[in-house]
Amino acid sequence: MLKIKAIVAVSANGVIGNQGKLIWKIPADLKFFKNTTYGLPLLMGRKTFELELNAVCLPGRKNLVISKQNNFNNGNAILVKTIEEAQSWCTNNDYKELIIAGGGQIYKEFLPICHEIYVTRIMADFEGDTFFNIPDFFQETQSIPFIIGPLSPYQLYFQTWINTKFIG
Ligand SMILES: NC(=O)c1ccc[n+]([C@@H]2O[C@H](COP(=O)([O-])OP(=O)(O)OC[C@H]3O[C@@H](n4cnc5c(N)ncnc54)[C@H](OP(=O)(O)O)[C@@H]3O)[C@@H](O)[C@H]2O)c1
Repeated sequence: MLKIKAIVAVSANGVIGNQGKLIWKIPADLKFFKNTTYGLPLLMGRKTFELELNAVCLPGRKNLVISKQNNFNNGNAILVKTIEEAQSWCTNNDYKELIIAGGGQIYKEFLPICHEIYVTRIMADFEGDTFFNIPDFFQETQSIPFIIGPLSPYQLYFQTWINTKFIG
């Protein structure tokens, strides 16, 4: 069975982005993101792909972009129109995991079918226009602190949340 997971970096006040972009650049989190997602298929919304990644695929990973549109610059990404199409693509290509990589709209819609969420909690407030909330049917199972230093100007927690609907 295909396991669907999400990965997100969120500020203390729940912000994940502003005007189509990430707000922060935190080497420790970029490293965590790369290590966690490398070699796996990523699913992202058309806005994240166009605005955040400037329509350039992240290397070393299959980039699946979801959109209802037919015509936009999808670079070398795999274009899907529905989550079911993304899931079929993964199983047809022998992947056991799919990682949901944002943005706001995509998390909101597809968190209920995620087994796990990797949350990088950034212990600072930011202003932004895109927010993330963890639904109450997720339970935190791990929280690893990462202290301020050369790899992060902010205190971080690398958290794992599991979907209680999939337990047992
Ligand atoms: N902090 C983080 O970890 C993180 C990670 C990723 C992104 N972000 C931030 O999130 C923000 C972007 O989020 P956003 O909410 O504006 O946009 P988004 O979720 O990236 O993309 C939304 C688009 O996805 C497509 N879509 C959504 N649901 C769909 C469905 N059920 N079927 C088919 N297509 C669907 C639609 O594209 P069409 O309009 O083309 O149909 C929709 O306009 C940016 O600021 C970005 O930096 C943050």
